Amino acid sequence: MFKVALISANGGVGKTAITAHLACTLARRDHAVLAVDFDPNNLLGLHLGLAPRERDGLALRTVSNDHWQDAAFSSDDGVHFLPFGDLDEAQRADFGARLGRNPDWLLQHLDDIALPSPAIALIDTPRLPSLYSQQAVRAADLVIVVVAADASCYAKLPAARNKVTLAGKADATYYVVNFADAARRLHNDIIAVMRLDLGNRLLPYYIHHDEAVPESLASNRSLAGYAPHSQAAHDLQGLATWLLARAAEHPA
Ligand SMILES: Nc1ncnc2c1ncn2[C@@H]1O[C@H](COP(=O)(O)OP(=O)(O)O)[C@@H](O)[C@H]1O
Ligand SMILES: [Mg+2]
Repeated sequence: MFKVALISANGGVGKTAITAHLACTLARRDHAVLAVDFDPNNLLGLHLGLAPRERDGLALRTVSNDHWQDAAFSSDDGVHFLPFGDLDEAQRADFGARLGRNPDWLLQHLDDIALPSPAIALIDTPRLPSLYSQQAVRAADLVIVVVAADASCYAKLPAARNKVTLAGKADATYYVVNFADAARRLHNDIIAVMRLDLGNRLLPYYIHHDEAVPESLASNRSLAGYAPHSQAAHDLQGLATWLLARAAEHPA
């Protein structure tokens, strides 16, 4: 399984939305995809059609000493999906302590999952710094840092870079701009300075600001199903094609 971590140093940049819609895009192209919610906010399921009252998930089962693989769901688009689960504070502390004791907990557990090869796992995380994003980076064959073209994301670029460098993943890390809006001058200026810092690690596949993204969430549908001809759906097709090429290069 080719494992991809989606991380960011800033909140609200679209990690969860991109994880969900990228997973649906890949599944609609008949690729085996596992979407993993590794964020205690437990929101990825909302983007994949999971009922809001559903509490089950990999972390909830782990702290209950239950079979966590059985917490998997399938979305309407054919995405295999592991929610985080809805934990109370004591359970969250227990799960955090387990992660603290074993920095490779996620890597070891993902390796136990059998999906038809070649499968891609997309791991959603809370913003850095966190135990969860650290585990996802350690588990990943490829890391995608999601950024918006604004001053706070630019200011936080070194934080994301240090994290992946410390984990020995700098050469496996790429940066994706979300909320792109070429009509805004500031946007273009910030992308230009980011490109000076990141070179071709900054992917040319921007995901544009597109109301179809929050609308699809509000309609409880995937972007590919709700607005297949929208700009953001088109952008995600490009990102999916690029990702499949990276997965194909990767030794099995
Ligand atoms: N390209 C986009 N265009 C418009 N809205 C977007 C886009 N990407 C994400 N959003 C919206 O932005 C909000 C934050 O996205 P989310 O995925 O929750 O961010 P994160 O997981 O990084 O905190 C959500 O309401 C989401 O629907
Ligand atoms: Mg999120």
